[in-house]
Amino acid sequence: MEKQRLDKIVASTGKWSRREVKELVRRGQILADGAAVRSADEKFDPEAVTLTVEGEPLLYRRYTWVMLNKPAGYLSATEDGRGPTVLDLLPEELRRQGLFPVGRLDRDTEGLLLLTNEGALAHALLSPKRHVDKVYYARAAGRLAEADCRAFAGGMTLEDGFQCQPAVLEILTAGETSEVLVTLREGKFHQVKRMLAARGAPVMYLERVKMGNLVLDRSLLRGKFRFLTEKETESLRRLV
Ligand code: URA
Repeated sequence: MEKQRLDKIVASTGKWSRREVKELVRRGQILADGAAVRSADEKFDPEAVTLTVEGEPLLYRRYTWVMLNKPAGYLSATEDGRGPTVLDLLPEELRRQGLFPVGRLDRDTEGLLLLTNEGALAHALLSPKRHVDKVYYARAAGRLAEADCRAFAGGMTLEDGFQCQPAVLEILTAGETSEVLVTLREGKFHQVKRMLAARGAPVMYLERVKMGNLVLDRSLLRGKFRFLTEKETESLRRLV
């Protein structure tokens, strides 16, 4: 792999800023193949060099994957004049790595959103051919019942003629307001909202809780993110 500046390699983990890397180098706390690095702009092949930072081996990853617990009020875009984007919730060191959201959640939808800079895998996961399940929790204004589950399973036709693939509607509680889980294999614009509205139950609240085999990490507060583990990125690779 092409050589890169040490501060870029170390900061790409998201744990230290470039300024902190400089300070670590000054204190002799970064070793490259066992020898203290002298300058933060020294260049190394990140896949060939063994780096340790404060005595701990540095795990370099070519691509970055993060799971964000998206709050309402943020657009799933990298930049947008209309308001804050999910990128605004990440530290600068990660923003610099060219992360983008894997698919979109509406501005008012919360929950699991992946961001990465690994374009090929991200696009493969989003391809309708891959059938990656997405699960949403919704609170809807209306009493949903067995007939609605059958309509979802049969593949609904929306008011504009769009033919949905079969989907799963699971009713958690039914009343004047119903709580449901919706599992989709596609992701057309406002799809969950449109499907539930077509059954007479407009969505009041929507949260994505699962994508493929990744479940929203409940230890993440809204607006917070964490890196995916190696095992989690492997599980995504296996899906495609
Ligand atoms: N379906 C919707 O209606 N909105 C989302 O944000 C995601 C799925």
